[in-house]
Amino acid sequence: MTRGARRGARGEFFVTEKSGELFHGHFGGSRMSQPRALLVGTGISVPPLVVDNTMLARIIDTNDEWIRTRSGIVSRRYVEPGVSSSQLGTEAARAALADAGVETSEVDYLVCATMTPDYYFPGAGTLIQQQLGLSPLPALDIRQQCAGFAYGMQMVDALIRSGIAKTVLLVGADVHTSVMPFSEATWDCLYGRSSEPLDEEIFAWNSRFRHLLVLFGDGAGAMVFKAHDKDDGRGILSSALYGDGENCEILYVPGGGSLNRPWVTAEMIAEGVTVPVMKGRSVFKLAVTRMPQVTREILANNGYTLDDLDLLIMHQANLRINEAAQKQLGLPAERVHNNIQKYGNTTSATLPLCFHEAKQAGKAPEGSLVAFTALGAGLHWGSVLMRI
Ligand code: ACO
Repeated sequence: MTRGARRGARGEFFVTEKSGELFHGHFGGSRMSQPRALLVGTGISVPPLVVDNTMLARIIDTNDEWIRTRSGIVSRRYVEPGVSSSQLGTEAARAALADAGVETSEVDYLVCATMTPDYYFPGAGTLIQQQLGLSPLPALDIRQQCAGFAYGMQMVDALIRSGIAKTVLLVGADVHTSVMPFSEATWDCLYGRSSEPLDEEIFAWNSRFRHLLVLFGDGAGAMVFKAHDKDDGRGILSSALYGDGENCEILYVPGGGSLNRPWVTAEMIAEGVTVPVMKGRSVFKLAVTRMPQVTREILANNGYTLDDLDLLIMHQANLRINEAAQKQLGLPAERVHNNIQKYGNTTSATLPLCFHEAKQAGKAPEGSLVAFTALGAGLHWGSVLMRI
């Protein structure tokens, strides 16, 4: 079997070709090619409120120097209370549809990635559908945390290749402020509504989670994909995704789930077990190893090398992780893009938010080869390769 060849469900061979990059199959003796998922528009939504490191130092025992040195983050955006993931996601989706010149009536499938849905259930997919004014359609919620958008891209690829959908809206949105364990007094102090210094006990409580709280921000990004029949090699080429529960406990939320009866209690909230547990160093080590590994893998699967890659968009969890990954891959600065400095980690939104801004900076013209890679809780990780 040649490199990239696979056996399909009915025994036929599908061969990835570097030249045409289309999967070809033989069905009932007649040769046919599958459509590709072509990216036709992107959009983002970030709340207007900018929270810089100095503002955080009012409510947490931290400082600008520590945050910048360890994570590269300078500021992040926070929503006002009452603004949810579905609302941010809807705004990003509207912007992406406008960018694509696609009418809402054309969308025939919606995929939404978030780890902070508006409600415990249902997910944010149907809420976005309703706010956008889309007719009833399949609305799929996926929750792979920081790898959610990469998983979403694989889903889009499968839906379009299989002919199930022709125009797919993929949204990634997260409102992390909703899970931050801050009291009203903390919010008042953060926003300068109170000139009183924060009570010592509250300051100590906030500081208990400082390694985590300084990293996250709110945001959303969306992409619109259309079925593309031209044999020009454009579209999502393939993906390599992984999930492995072995390291679940280095990044998870212990309280507030079906393991507990009832799933959440006042005691759990008071103990702080509804706040994520994150063993930062362990996550860091896995991210700097696995993101480069799976990026090399996806390139090799498609017959490419790093020299062929025009742009790498990495999950934005820590600038130091991305610098280390870039170094390992030997990529020059112009072939990567980071915006964690401005937004912090927006989980499901990092890949579309970062790609959107890279595209605006002229780093992803038509025809360029772009890889997306992410790692997050689960653990879930992987890469997706796309010809723009
Ligand atoms: N401000 C000041 N000091 C701090 C802060 C803070 N915000 N946070 C921790 N410290 C202190 C610690 O208490 C410790 O002090 P000590 O030496 O006196 O004990 C010291 O700084 C070093 O702490 P470490 O945790 O060892 O710091 P590290 O260099 O590992 O950086 C960080 C921590 C930034 C969290 C890093 O480990 C990281 O980014 N890891 C990866 C995070 C990630 O990728 N998460 C996944 C995405 S989330 C998702 O999927 C939902």
